[in-house]
Amino acid sequence: MIKIVEVGPRDGLQNETATVPVDAKVAFVNALSDTGVSEIEVSAFVSSKMVPQLRDAGTVFKNIRRKKGIIYSALVPNIKGFDRAVDADVEKISVFTAASETFNQKNINTTVDGSLDRFQPVVKRAVKQGLPVRGYISTAFWCPFEGKINPEAVVVLTQRLMDMGINEVSISDTIGKATPEEVKKLMDVLLAKVPVENIAVHFHDTYGRGIANVLQSVSYGIRVVDASAGGLGGCPFAPGATGNVATEAVAQALIRASETVNVSVKGIINARRCLDPYLQKHDPALPAPESLAC
Ligand code: HMG
Ligand code: MG
Repeated sequence: MIKIVEVGPRDGLQNETATVPVDAKVAFVNALSDTGVSEIEVSAFVSSKMVPQLRDAGTVFKNIRRKKGIIYSALVPNIKGFDRAVDADVEKISVFTAASETFNQKNINTTVDGSLDRFQPVVKRAVKQGLPVRGYISTAFWCPFEGKINPEAVVVLTQRLMDMGINEVSISDTIGKATPEEVKKLMDVLLAKVPVENIAVHFHDTYGRGIANVLQSVSYGIRVVDASAGGLGGCPFAPGATGNVATEAVAQALIRASETVNVSVKGIINARRCLDPYLQKHDPALPAPESLAC
C-alpha cells in the first residue's frame, strides 16, 4: 500500500492569487476526508505577511469535520507557529528547511543551521505532547538560486533532522526540475544511510516528470508520497515552481503499476471541484457539477 499524503489545502492554496474563502477551504478538506486519504495537510501556521493566503489556518482547523483515522496536519516554522497549531488541535506538525542556503533565506529568513536551531524547541515540545513531526527538505535536487544540489548535502540534512527526533523526512523537489535519474542518484546514497520507512517524497511537476519521479521513488520501497488534488500548488518563494504532482494522476499511475493506494480517484476529482468557483480551472472533460460532492 502506498500512502498518498494530500497536501492540496496547504501547498495547493498557498500560491494561489485568488482569494479562497474559509468555507470553501473547509468544504475542500471535508470532501478530501471522504476520499480514503489518511493524511491531509490542511494549512500552515506561518507569518501572514509571508503567506496571506493561509492566514485563516486556525479558523479552517476549527471548522473542518474530522474523520476518525485521518491525520490533519500543518506546517509550523517556529514556536509561535507551534502555539497556534496546538490551539487549533493540529494532529501532526511539519517543520521545513531546505538543502540550499539561499532558498532558506528567502523562504524562512534564516540559514540551514538557523532553521535547525529554531526547530529544536518545536520538536521537543511536539514529542513531549505526543504529536508526530515531519521534516521537509526543500530544494533537495535543484535550487532556483543555486542550481544543482549535491545529494550528500541532503543525506546530512536528513540525518540531522532525524537526530532531532523527526521520524519522517519528505524529500522535496520544490521547483519540479528533478529527473528520474537524479532521483535514483539521491536515493542510492540516501537509502544507504537512512531507513526507507523514514522517507517520503514530494514532487512538483513543472517539467511533467512528477509521475516518473514518484514511480522511481516507489521502486526504492518508499511508501509515502505527497500529492495535491488537481495538481494545485507551488512555493511563492521559488520562482518558476508550478503545482505539486496531481493526486489523481499519482493514484492512477500507481494502480497501473500494480500498487495499492489509499485514495479514490473520482473522490479526489470531486473534492478539487469545490474550489472551481474560486480558481477558475474547470476542466470540461470532468463530470457535471450536480453529480459532485460540492
Ligand atoms: P521572520 O521575519 O524571521 O520572523 O520570519 P520573526 O520571528 O522575526 O517575526 C516577524 C513577524 O512575523 C512578526 O510579526 C511575528 O509575530 C510574525 P510583526 O511583529 O512584524 O507584526 N510571525 C508569525 N506570525 C504568525 N505565525 C508565525 C509567525 N512567526 C513569526 N508562526 C518565518 C520567519 C519563518 C515566520 C517567516 O519567514 C515565514 O512565515 N515563512 C513562511 C514561508 C512559507 O510558508 N513558505 C511556503 C511553505 S514551504 C514550501 O512550500 C515547501 C514545501 O512544500 C516543500 C517543497 O515543495 O519544497 C514544504
Ligand atoms: Mg511543495
